[in-house]
Amino acid sequence: MAKQMANRIRWGLVGTGTIAHSFARDIERTSGAELVAVCSRDRVRATEFARHHGVVGVFTELDAMLAKGAIDALYLATPSAVHHEQAISALIAGKPVLVEKPLSVDAQQAREMVRIAQKQGVFLMEALWTRYLPAIRAIRAILDAGTIGTIKGFEANLAFRQKYDRNNRFFSPELGGGSLLDLGVYPLSLALYLLGLPLASRGNWRAAPSGVDRLARVTLFYRGYQALLSCGFERNGANLCIIRGSSGMIVIDGPFLQAKGFFVIRNAMIATIFAAASSPIAARLLRKLLLKIPLRGVERHFHDFQGDGLQFEIDAASTAIKDDLIEEPLMVHQHSIAVQDIIRSVLANRPV
Ligand SMILES: NC(=O)c1ccc[n+]([C@@H]2O[C@H](COP(=O)([O-])OP(=O)(O)OC[C@H]3O[C@@H](n4cnc5c(N)ncnc54)[C@H](OP(=O)(O)O)[C@@H]3O)[C@@H](O)[C@H]2O)c1
Repeated sequence: MAKQMANRIRWGLVGTGTIAHSFARDIERTSGAELVAVCSRDRVRATEFARHHGVVGVFTELDAMLAKGAIDALYLATPSAVHHEQAISALIAGKPVLVEKPLSVDAQQAREMVRIAQKQGVFLMEALWTRYLPAIRAIRAILDAGTIGTIKGFEANLAFRQKYDRNNRFFSPELGGGSLLDLGVYPLSLALYLLGLPLASRGNWRAAPSGVDRLARVTLFYRGYQALLSCGFERNGANLCIIRGSSGMIVIDGPFLQAKGFFVIRNAMIATIFAAASSPIAARLLRKLLLKIPLRGVERHFHDFQGDGLQFEIDAASTAIKDDLIEEPLMVHQHSIAVQDIIRSVLANRPV
């Protein structure tokens, strides 16, 4: 495959909603990818999207785009409930596929998608773009270098208030709603990326009237420490990620899923205050203060980027596809399945 491919991977995109627009803008910031086709259930929406983003191919059927779209790879920007079916259509057609998070609505679907990708020898990836951000890559290097010592704890919360609406994708069971599938995948996936697979997990959740989870807490157990994660639609959270080490702490700016900046703190007093700043206002004030007043033992790191930040994952996926891989080395299939297994085990409990 690698030999026949153009220098840039030609992507076809499915869906014309929020994240599809982000993808179409951010692909302009990549070096190895271009958007050449769009598929919508509605021709007018597809044509409008294509005109807006300068895309040539317009389709209303996925199969037609896979057959005639002159695309090298497919990006699914559709609700989670249809990822499984659409990704399998792509894999069977031999097209590499990047699937918006969550990869699927449950672990069984995720396993089947991976099994088909392996059988077909075709690339499959969950679009967890946070892993590819320059700040997150820098944090990974800092942890690998042992700068904050051995890990003693990890906390990440992601909460954005959503008004209850039975029919939107956040609360609709039919569209794959729920805070764990929509938001929880970010702290879970980041924990797995930075800490590896946990030894065990435990969690609880609170139900929305539609039956999906509107709030969830998950504990991942590692040798000698725990990762405490939470997500929810009830309020806006501080959305920080804190990594505690034996000789320091890393605090990633909120919302950590789109991280540009972080602090490396080796000042015990500041570390204690940061750890206690669980409200968004307190965390924001503390961050402002630390940016203004340089303190001994507090290091600021900043990795700016343009746009929404999807360009890094798009380039990584495009490179992996050119290299004929079936999984991107930083976003392995095993992690997508493990996240789904953890979510399943939490939701298997009765809501609290
Ligand atoms: N990476 C991120 O930061 C991020 C952010 C937001 C969302 N997401 C993920 O991206 C996916 C889409 O989210 P979104 O916020 O972009 O949603 P959205 O704005 O509702 O857009 C989804 C699009 O998919 C198509 N669609 C809707 N219902 C469908 C159905 N039943 N069958 C097939 N296609 C359907 C629609 O396009 P047409 O009407 O044109 O067909 C719609 O515009 C979700 O999996 C979500 O978790 C990721």
